[in-house]
Amino acid sequence: MTTTTQQHTASDLFAQALRYENRADPYPYFAQLCRRPVVPEENGTWLVSGYHEISRLLRDPRVSADRRRPEEEQPIRKSLLVEDAPRHDQLRHQVTEQFVPRIMGLRDHIDGLVTGLLDAHTSQRPGQLDVVGDLAYPLPVTLICELLGVPREDEPVFGSIARRLTRGLDPVETQTEDELRELREARGELVQYLEGLIADRQAAPADDLLSGLMFGQGSDAPMDPIDLRVTLALLLIAGHETTVNLIANGTLALLRHPDLLARLRAEPDLVTPLVEEVLRYDPPVQMSGRSTLADIDLGGTTIPKGSRVRLLLAAGNRDPRRFSDPDRFLPDRPGNAHLGFGGGIHYCIGATLARTEAQVALTALARRLASPRLVAAPPPYRENAILRGPDRLLVSFDRLT
Ligand code: HEM
Repeated sequence: MTTTTQQHTASDLFAQALRYENRADPYPYFAQLCRRPVVPEENGTWLVSGYHEISRLLRDPRVSADRRRPEEEQPIRKSLLVEDAPRHDQLRHQVTEQFVPRIMGLRDHIDGLVTGLLDAHTSQRPGQLDVVGDLAYPLPVTLICELLGVPREDEPVFGSIARRLTRGLDPVETQTEDELRELREARGELVQYLEGLIADRQAAPADDLLSGLMFGQGSDAPMDPIDLRVTLALLLIAGHETTVNLIANGTLALLRHPDLLARLRAEPDLVTPLVEEVLRYDPPVQMSGRSTLADIDLGGTTIPKGSRVRLLLAAGNRDPRRFSDPDRFLPDRPGNAHLGFGGGIHYCIGATLARTEAQVALTALARRLASPRLVAAPPPYRENAILRGPDRLLVSFDRLT
């Protein structure tokens, strides 16, 4: 095979993986890409789909988290997600100092929220539940709003902004003109919304993360006002658009493996490795991006300095060189160091929170729904390719216990 054919093939496979028609199961395309773990597309972007290669790039200081093309619209200030050391580390420290103490000991509170959501919705519609709309979406949204200090009644406004913004994370070539226009509008609405929120806090500080960042007593607080706006937007969107998919994908895995559902009822501790396996097998964040600050050699292939790189986390998570039987959902697999939360200095800040939410939600679903069944298989998926998950997940059941 010539290099040109190989390049065509990699781009085609990637395009197939992104196609909406393949949203329910992009994994066969990722598996084919993974056979050539480091390969350039015709447009010069590199696709990295091997587990070991992705892990190395996530930890290489010669690789920048800034993934934008120079011609793309540049934001006023970069968030920590796309910032490099040392600024990244400073910002991350400011956030974790406020975030970590606030998520400790939240499990009982999360349990109460899950109970409330299940009781409310099942009593309205006995026998059927939309796991996305009734549980997986409202749970993380309530929590991130409570943590940050966003009034719950503002959620519909913010939720609509978050939806349009996350679609904007997908490769630009997959988006329509209308979607790109909506994205610009959503950015404007977000800025306006955050201004109002910050002004309210300025007038009346409260015991929440936003006030902590604005007036905090930590070692390097308060946060610079522009960084504050950018960080707030990042946390709100991460809190709205990721955990929903972990809970929904976990529910799907349980409904597709009745033996595991039965085991989870009998062995509640199974939920911990089970959630890790969802993060490997069906990760809510399917890929990330980087750019190279030097020529980087990966097992004999050199990615030239100045290249844009796509890290296909979902492909690396099923790399047969790292995971045996990668296409099987096996919560008992040993050493499941998946890439679902990334790795290195950008490892997900919300990982503990997201894990706890998913563990509590899946435990409650397994325990309380008698004979749950999927109404549509596969369920309808959201348009998003990167933050991928079902749009609705209708489950019917005999009764709620
Ligand atoms: C970073 C996944 C939930 C906040 C990341 C990264 C991944 C990820 C893969 C690394 C991106 C990269 O290296 O380019 C997930 C998944 C979640 C989740 C799968 C849910 C299941 C959350 C939540 C929050 C959050 C709930 C906040 C409340 C962040 C932040 C970063 C990040 C701030 C950037 C960290 C840095 O750059 O140092 N997440 N995330 N995430 N996540 Fe999450």
